[in-house]
Amino acid sequence: MTLSLTRCPAPAKLNLFLHVNGRRSDGYHLLQTVFQLIDHSDYLDAEVTDDGCITRTNDVPGVPEDSDLIVRAARLLQQHTNSQLGARLTLHKTLPMGGGLGGGSSDAATTLMALNALWQTGLSQQELMRISVQLGADVPFFLFGENAFAEGIGEELQPVQTPDCWYVVIEPGVHVPTPAIFSSDLLTRDTKPVKITDFPADEFVKWKNDLQSVACLLYPEVDKAVKWLNQFGAAKMTGSGACVFCAVSDESEADKIITQHEGNWKLWKAKSLNIHPMMKKLQTKD
Ligand code: C5P
Repeated sequence: MTLSLTRCPAPAKLNLFLHVNGRRSDGYHLLQTVFQLIDHSDYLDAEVTDDGCITRTNDVPGVPEDSDLIVRAARLLQQHTNSQLGARLTLHKTLPMGGGLGGGSSDAATTLMALNALWQTGLSQQELMRISVQLGADVPFFLFGENAFAEGIGEELQPVQTPDCWYVVIEPGVHVPTPAIFSSDLLTRDTKPVKITDFPADEFVKWKNDLQSVACLLYPEVDKAVKWLNQFGAAKMTGSGACVFCAVSDESEADKIITQHEGNWKLWKAKSLNIHPMMKKLQTKD
């Protein structure tokens, strides 16, 4: 039996648009969005132990071990399956926190995939998705493993064809707390629901993110990033921010835009992915 998995990718996502259609009685919002996987990732190492303890071996600034979603994900799987095994987890963080890229949710999903394989707990993809929503509304998407049109609070998923392309992403250097954006009085919550047949695949980038105007008002640096990137294409915020992105024609166009920035933001290019890289890794078990 393989007792460890190293360098398990936890890729970021972009929300190609995000419409808020209502609010549930528990405060969660009903939304419609397209989740796009990109090739920019955190990485997780997971090692099985036989003492039943779940530990994180490294410090992650700003994230205490017990509240880390990877630790919570591992404990959730352990409880749900009554596994007697434990795990030592190491998280190599590159995705920003409070960036709207789904980093924490993706880390949690990768932990569930890795430990379900290592502990041989054998939960189906559907079952993993079902239990994972209690860790966060975006976690089921990362277990779904392919680009998706999402409804509900983000957990009702169906596969969708998205354009193969390159993106430029800006990290404007601010952390945006998701609850602050969703709970704001400035947020409009009544965008008319669309049907998936209403929009052709290459149109997604032209649709709005309803959370963007709120984040731009509360965090002027996000607004500046949108305006700067708008010179080059249709710039948009992902999730509840802070990151901003635009689609570009090819890699060299992305490089050109990145070299034109002279300030303090972090800019990088990313390629769209069609499938979660953990799916391939678990098939080859390297
Ligand atoms: O589920 P997650 O922990 O990622 O959500 C963080 C917060 O964002 C929630 O506590 C809630 O305030 C808000 N949220 C929401 N509607 C969603 C997703 C998140 O109101 N669909």
